[in-house]
Amino acid sequence: MTLTAPSPATPAPTGEPTLADTAPKVLALIAGYVGHRTVSIGLRQGLIRQLADGPGSTPDDLAEALDLDPFYVGVWCRGGLAAGVLDRAGSGYRLGDHIATLLLDTASPAWVGGVFAVTEAPEMFGRFEAHFATGERMWWDDTSPEWIAAVAGTGTPFYTRLVPGGLAKVPGLTERLEAGVRVVDTACGAGLGAVRLATAYPRSVVVGVDGDLHSVEQARERVAAAGLSDRVEVLHSALEDFTVDRPATVVINNISMHECRDIDRVAENVMAALEPGGWFVISDFPFPDTDEGLRSVPGRIMTGIQFFEAQIDDQLLPRAAYDDLLSRHGFVDLGSVQLTPMHALTWGRRPA
Ligand SMILES: C[S@@+](CC[C@H](N)C(=O)[O-])C[C@H]1O[C@@H](n2cnc3c(N)ncnc32)[C@H](O)[C@@H]1O
Repeated sequence: MTLTAPSPATPAPTGEPTLADTAPKVLALIAGYVGHRTVSIGLRQGLIRQLADGPGSTPDDLAEALDLDPFYVGVWCRGGLAAGVLDRAGSGYRLGDHIATLLLDTASPAWVGGVFAVTEAPEMFGRFEAHFATGERMWWDDTSPEWIAAVAGTGTPFYTRLVPGGLAKVPGLTERLEAGVRVVDTACGAGLGAVRLATAYPRSVVVGVDGDLHSVEQARERVAAAGLSDRVEVLHSALEDFTVDRPATVVINNISMHECRDIDRVAENVMAALEPGGWFVISDFPFPDTDEGLRSVPGRIMTGIQFFEAQIDDQLLPRAAYDDLLSRHGFVDLGSVQLTPMHALTWGRRPA
């Protein structure tokens, strides 16, 4: 056996990462930020829509169609190519495979185009840093209408996956919803879920409840515009205080249960609002409970959401926290399902 000393360029085999091993991790963060800004600009300026409608467009074509500067559009196109959202097509560009679905198709369960507006909004990181020293909290009525609209965009694919596909995973529920029951969407936000529920189950009656007045007004407008005011009503109430005049068969909560300031009181109110045998379905982000999970792409996005949640005095929760919550409030027949790495359902029933 011949033993040779390592050359000066070869690091000693200590197992420790070298500087060259680590630098790409940091550079990837910068690259991700560049890609994020590129996609956001492309969505806002209509470039991504224009490329979906006109694959093969050159920067000059895009600039002319959208009344933008051709040189700047060329810069943006190279950014989009670098980010992997554009491919070359002849002398122009086209959207990469599935990019139109992911970024533009608001009806797709895979749509993530709405998240870019949330991550760029001042409510996410800017306000957090501005109040770093004091930790000053806020609530939804301190946020802008643009923020509420952006959050509704983030919630949209969650509702798309929940209604009807996600709810169909809850044993026995779809038959009841189709036959016609009373459904409560707690923390209904801008009303998208209430409209989806009423549309998917035309014999059912839906009650939306939210604690933020601007969201309630948006929801009422959405319900009226959908022509559903005879079957959907929207109430303004904190979930910690809400009561119903008639028991519901199903109570759902989409991406909001973690926000309740007194989650136990809300669970008690939900139990009281349900008829015997009624279901409570929690649809939420499953926050990772391992370091490995945190470092996954979904985990990293969820840690970003925590910057906003901190400002309204909460944090996303691991999915299992809802098993504990439902168990300690006497719910039975608990179940859960992971719909995507960033979306899980947990359910339980009021004892019959
Ligand atoms: C992330 S948004 C989700 C809205 C909607 N479910 C969706 O998916 O688009 C959270 C909503 O929960 C409402 N909310 C949070 N905590 C609440 C509470 N304790 N009582 C009533 N509403 C609450 C907020 O006003 C906001 O509209």
